[in-house]
Amino acid sequence: GLPDRVTIWEVGARDGLQNESSVVPVGVKLEFLDRLADAGLTVLEATSFVRPEWVPQLADAEELLAGLARRPGVSYPVLVPNERGLDRALAAGVRHVAIFASATETFARRNLNRSLDEQFAMFEPVVARARAEGLDVRGYVSMCFGDPWEGAVPREQVIGVGKRLLDMGCSQLSLGDTIGVATPGQVTALLAGFDDVGALAVHFHDTYGQALANTLAALQAGVRTVDSSAGGLGGCPYAESATGNLATEDLVWMLDGLGVEHGVDLDALADTSAWLAGVLGRPSPSRVVRALRG
Ligand code: HMG
Ligand code: MG
Repeated sequence: GLPDRVTIWEVGARDGLQNESSVVPVGVKLEFLDRLADAGLTVLEATSFVRPEWVPQLADAEELLAGLARRPGVSYPVLVPNERGLDRALAAGVRHVAIFASATETFARRNLNRSLDEQFAMFEPVVARARAEGLDVRGYVSMCFGDPWEGAVPREQVIGVGKRLLDMGCSQLSLGDTIGVATPGQVTALLAGFDDVGALAVHFHDTYGQALANTLAALQAGVRTVDSSAGGLGGCPYAESATGNLATEDLVWMLDGLGVEHGVDLDALADTSAWLAGVLGRPSPSRVVRALRG
């Protein structure tokens, strides 16, 4: 059955803005995060401490965190790929990090400059040190359903990568459909391969319009944390054909209809996405934002 309540893990400031062709000014990012907190979101993935040459859009991570007015009851996780990233995150006062692994060889090389096996050697000391510092660590798995270079991704391969991240000490695993090709039956089948569905989150991109259907399948399978991005911003600069994430507004609309609690003020959120779309100079791809504010 469906849960009473879902935690929305808002990735707009990270997954959304990492994919913008222009670099969004840090002041706009800070206002975006403030407005998301005002709208009731309690998990705001804020930025990434990756190599600035790789993702120039988020090269201002230090400045962003220095300017951030942290709200009580809101967590601000950040992505860290390696120990250098963790050092930077710790220096910035971060308490919640996420590592990001690939389920496929090709994407590991393109996104992390490592082989599938080498990525674990990079992550292991990050997770160990982060935990020793008392930080919460999430593990992402990308390309869980399909990969633009390798095609369909075997379920066992995804489960193998995911279990290694959990064994390493990640408290939560976010299963990513990086290029948005999954359909609900595949979601149900993949989730059934994990012993503890309570430790899983789902991260859908909406390239083929399946993100909401996939989310419903995940909720029915026992998932309680759903990643989404305000206004449907997003994509990965190292994954061909990746488009926006599931829009938070679309998710909230569905949850409201199902009577599942989420704590988000849809009007305030849609205003925020409409404002940001204006700043970025193009309409929000979210159907709900367009229906409410178009
Ligand atoms: P590399 O080029 O192999 O780096 O990149 P390296 O380890 O060889 O180090 C080379 C130099 O970079 C060194 O400097 C390091 O200090 C520096 P030097 O000694 O030459 O002066 N360096 C760093 N500087 C700042 N911060 C760092 C850092 N690391 C090294 N953290 C690396 C390897 C992993 C760093 C690179 O590939 C990288 O940054 N990748 C990140 C790509 C990325 O952010 N992709 C998007 C996020 S993933 C995603 O969107 C999917 C997701 O949404 C889920 C889904 O949709 O499926 C999460
Ligand atoms: Mg993503």
